[in-house]
Amino acid sequence: MKIHVTDRDGNEHTVEGQAGDNLMLPLHAADLVEATCSGSCSCATCHVFVDAACLDKLAPAEATEIDMLDFIMLAQSDSRLACQVHLTEDTPDLRVTIAPEEGF
Ligand code: FES
Repeated sequence: MKIHVTDRDGNEHTVEGQAGDNLMLPLHAADLVEATCSGSCSCATCHVFVDAACLDKLAPAEATEIDMLDFIMLAQSDSRLACQVHLTEDTPDLRVTIAPEEGF
């Protein structure tokens, strides 16, 4: 599936996601997120805002992700941690915006 990404400078990118991966992997491969913890849900450097039209097509966040999002000052109702968004054959093309740096 295609993932349309707006980076922190407002530039648009399109990356390819693969079923079986998480959303962080193609974003990190394109240098769009740091993913400092490599996907262990402990750094929030993969924080993205998911377009409203796509958000309810994703599996909901699990407790660990919700706990981390509660800790993030810049979290919004459309926030997800990309490393916790699992891509499947049924995942539609997505549109996300990389969240601002948290400044931990
Ligand atoms: S890569 Fe660290 S929380 Fe997602």
